[in-house]
Amino acid sequence: MKGVILAGGTGSRLHPLTRITNKHLLPIYDRPMISYAIEALVNAGVRELMLVTGGTHAGEFLRLLGNGNEFGIDRLSYSYQDKPGGIAEALGLAEKFVAGDRCVVMLADNVFERSIRPCVEAFARQERGARVVLSRESDREHLRHLGVPQFDGDRRIARIFEKPEQPPSEFAVTGVYFYDQTVWAVLPELKPSGRGELEITDVNNWYLSKGLMEYDVLEGFWGDAGESIQSYYAVNDFVRASATKKGA
Ligand code: G1P
Repeated sequence: MKGVILAGGTGSRLHPLTRITNKHLLPIYDRPMISYAIEALVNAGVRELMLVTGGTHAGEFLRLLGNGNEFGIDRLSYSYQDKPGGIAEALGLAEKFVAGDRCVVMLADNVFERSIRPCVEAFARQERGARVVLSRESDREHLRHLGVPQFDGDRRIARIFEKPEQPPSEFAVTGVYFYDQTVWAVLPELKPSGRGELEITDVNNWYLSKGLMEYDVLEGFWGDAGESIQSYYAVNDFVRASATKKGA
């Protein structure tokens, strides 16, 4: 399974901090944000990675990560997104890298307390289709800024709503997604959303409409550090407190 880390976008929700750097290079406690996504994948056994980024600070990722060996990566490739066109567009740039394999896609502003290894292993056992990772979230205001699943009577996901006014459940779709090779045929069919982006939620809803989507609920802390300045600090506070607890 190949890993694709998405670290592009304008980071407008964190302006003015992101006028001078890429959002995913901002510090989370003692490391740049992107380090957490890399560690999550490497610790889950995914060691062939492609980083997709863009904008004027793309070169800094090379300075930070180099060939990736220091981070436990066996093979690190880079791709450049000319202009921010959404998560699904960025994923399209990884097609040749993933070539014939399956992939796990991770948004580089996501931070998890628990290991995603069980999800990686579950997808390895899954015959085909896609898989998403959910996190419990009872704050309805927070859910209005995220992807939220609606469940049917059998607790299967019926549909995912992107940034819903009325969240249909108390779960958030995190920024970890698993896809089989069908994804490359789905991406070219997407139409830009209201915010002018190709949405990963549309990809996931395509798999749901075919009955080819599974999910995991990951317990423990999850944060999207790029969502707002509040969530950026919530993630910082969590990481710092747990590092202090461990005596770091
Ligand atoms: C994206 C997805 C959303 C998901 C979130 C998780 O939102 O579109 O469904 O819940 O990542 O980090 P964005 O950060 O692009 O607003």
